[in-house]
Amino acid sequence: MSKVQNFCESIGCRYPIIQAGMVWVSGAKLAAASANAGILGIIGAGSMKVDLLRSQLTKAKALAPNGALGINLPLLYHGIEEQIDVALDAGIRIFITSAGSPKLFTAKLKAAGCTVLHVVSNPTLAKKCEDAGVDMVIAEGFEAGGHNGRDELTTMVLLPQVVDAVRIPVIAAGGIACGRQVVASFALGASAVQIGSRYAATLESSAHENFKQAIVKADYSATKLMMKKHVPVRLLRNGFAAQVEALELKGASKEDLENLLGKGRAKKGMLDGDLDEGELEIGQVSGMINDVPSVQDLTHRIIEETKSALNDLSNRTSGLF
Ligand SMILES: Cc1cc2nc3c(=O)[nH]c(=O)nc-3n(C[C@H](O)[C@H](O)[C@H](O)COP(=O)(O)O)c2cc1C
Repeated sequence: MSKVQNFCESIGCRYPIIQAGMVWVSGAKLAAASANAGILGIIGAGSMKVDLLRSQLTKAKALAPNGALGINLPLLYHGIEEQIDVALDAGIRIFITSAGSPKLFTAKLKAAGCTVLHVVSNPTLAKKCEDAGVDMVIAEGFEAGGHNGRDELTTMVLLPQVVDAVRIPVIAAGGIACGRQVVASFALGASAVQIGSRYAATLESSAHENFKQAIVKADYSATKLMMKKHVPVRLLRNGFAAQVEALELKGASKEDLENLLGKGRAKKGMLDGDLDEGELEIGQVSGMINDVPSVQDLTHRIIEETKSALNDLSNRTSGLF
């Protein structure tokens, strides 16, 4: 069985694609639609208090009773243990952890019979994940939307290094929105891909309509990695990003950035749709996103593109190697 087939079998999905966990964007509707489309649907638990998480998990399970569902937990927030207990009670057995040490919760999750994936931005962290008992790593290049590693490694450079550093399966993330990029990820050694920004601009995503339209309008230079002194994050350029940029040019400290960020900035942008004052997390690949399809249509499109990109690759290189 191939690495890619192995991934699908161990996760219980038809296609080797993970719809990424995204704060304020991937709730029950998006995760369930993804699971029903044959990919792994992930609830982004980062922004959820436990009551909301419980109700979103119940809703997702009701909407996609036979689909593959999991949750994403960034380890930089408070109340992680409670969130884990709520998810375990709801029957979730696929956990993607990020932004923290893989040593913190992997043993507990493995003891509960879970599959654990951890997001990494360099090969050293990938090795630590393997040593901590993590089942798979998600190698995320800094093209990606949302919080990023400090190493600024692109997916093209990061992925083969992570694949060479560990024996566990490696999932590619960062800058993937179409079938050609899926095929490139497989060529670099990935067992599957995780896609965020592209699924943020779908009918079922809970991103505000203003944010979805801003993603559609974005061109190739619309995003920038910012706030490296705080937690590095890739943002769509807007009024808030301009304020961050101005402060950073003046040599802002971590505290200055924390003060500007304040509370609720990401919700203001991504969920409430304030395109000027809100924080809008999105990847470089937004320059390639030109519509807001349903999850079913998008997933079908990516699968068909992947098939034709594989054919095209073999035709274009036929007889050469
Ligand atoms: C709006 C948004 C919110 C995100 N929130 C999270 C999060 O809560 N936890 C996390 O591990 N990654 C988060 N990410 C990163 C994604 O899980 C994923 O790895 C990334 O989007 C992949 O790169 P792409 O955006 O180029 O597809 C977020 C990304 C976006 C676009």
